[in-house]
Order: sequence, then structure tokens, then C-alpha cells
Amino acid sequence: MSLVDKLKWRYATKKFDSTKKIAADKLQAILDAVQLAPSSIGLQHYRVLVIEDADTREKLKAVGYGQSQITDASQLIVFAAETNINEEFGKKYIDNVAATRNIPREALAGFEGMVLGAINGRTPEQLLIWAQKQAYIGLGVLVTAAAEQDVDICPMEGFDPAGFDEVLGLKEKGLTATVIATIGYRAADDATANAAKVRRPASEFFIHI
Ligand SMILES: Cc1cc2nc3c(=O)[nH]c(=O)nc-3n(C[C@H](O)[C@H](O)[C@H](O)COP(=O)(O)O)c2cc1C
Repeated sequence: MSLVDKLKWRYATKKFDSTKKIAADKLQAILDAVQLAPSSIGLQHYRVLVIEDADTREKLKAVGYGQSQITDASQLIVFAAETNINEEFGKKYIDNVAATRNIPREALAGFEGMVLGAINGRTPEQLLIWAQKQAYIGLGVLVTAAAEQDVDICPMEGFDPAGFDEVLGLKEKGLTATVIATIGYRAADDATANAAKVRRPASEFFIHI
């Protein structure tokens, strides 16, 4: 099946089969794809929590508007934006670039200046919005990678971020819940699976210039 056919097959799953778990290698393949998501200057401004624990998911459902997917899916994925993007964060990234590419740290001085400028030039509010935008790119890759692996998913914004932060202790970790997704397998009786995809016609969506 082509990628487009897989994206036609996928839908925001409303009801998961709670008896079905994603095989470890499949889950890993999906997470590997998410780790490869691009981000502005490569900073990876967010963390990704993979939550399987039943008690934790019950607590999260209570602050997730009772959405059953949170407990019934195989796993819950939480994209949590970094709340402490600062010089230290930027320098750690440069360290990683230097080590990964075997480049002397000094040779990266220009790039470091650009990275630190991008951080220092933003207010705390702008830094958070910046980080949250990157988290959504991770979500986009997750949606696509899950479809590629024939795994169902429901991207979700319907939750209380402060409640998630509290249950998961994210504030202490310098993180805040931004967007979530439940992944697993659709229940056989999820009627939503048969609904036709609603999208704007291409002529009202794409602008070719
Ligand atoms: C960022 C985002 C947040 C969403 N939040 C929810 C949600 O909280 N609960 C839910 O059931 N569906 C949620 N959806 C699913 C959308 O309603 C769905 O993707 C959209 O209607 C298009 O349908 P499709 O994904 O089945 O093609 C969300 C989707 C996105 C991308």
C-alpha cells in the first residue's frame, strides 16, 4: 500500500480494542521515526513520554475529559515541551553536534552564536510557543509512522495540560504537556472507521503560484 493509501486507511480512532498491544518492534519503529522528526535548528525542543501504566492512564483520563482512548489504547504518547530552553540547553546541543560529527567545539562558534541568539532573542512565552510548535511536528511524524506500521492512532488536544503536568510530575522535569496521542488497534465496532474522510477540496486547499 502506498503512503497515501495508508493515510486514507488511518483515522482518528475513537474506540480502541483494549486487548490488543502493539508488538515491541513495531512500537520501536514508530518511536524511531518520531526521534527523527525535524525541529527548528535541530534543538528537539520537547520530550516524548510513552505511557503504558494502567493506574497512571486512569488518572490521566480523569484530566483528559474522560476520553476512553487514553486507557483503552495500547500506549499513550505525550509530547511535552521543554520549559527551560536557555543557554545551557543550547550549549548542550552544540556539544552533541560536535561529538556526533566529530567537529572541534571551536569550529562551531558561529553556529553556536546563531543558536544562542535564537534562544536569547525570544521571550519566555515565545520560547514556549516555539517549543510547542516543534512538538506538533513530532505528532505529525507519529501519525504518519503509525499509519505506515498499520497501527491506529488518535491525536488529541482534548485534555487539561495542567492536570497532565500534575499527574506526570512534568513541572519538576522542566516540561509541560502540549499534545498527546493514543496508539493501538481500532475496536471492531468503532463506527468512525467507516466514515468518509472529510477534507477541503484540493482547489480550496492548495495554492499554486
Ligand atoms: C492536534 C489534534 C487534536 C485532536 N484532538 C482530538 C481529541 O481530543 N479527541 C478526538 O477524539 N480526536 C481529536 N483529534 C482528531 C481530529 O478530530 C481528526 O484528526 C480530524 O477530524 C480529521 O479526521 P481523521 O484524522 O479521522 O482523518 C485531534 C486531531 C489533531 C490533529
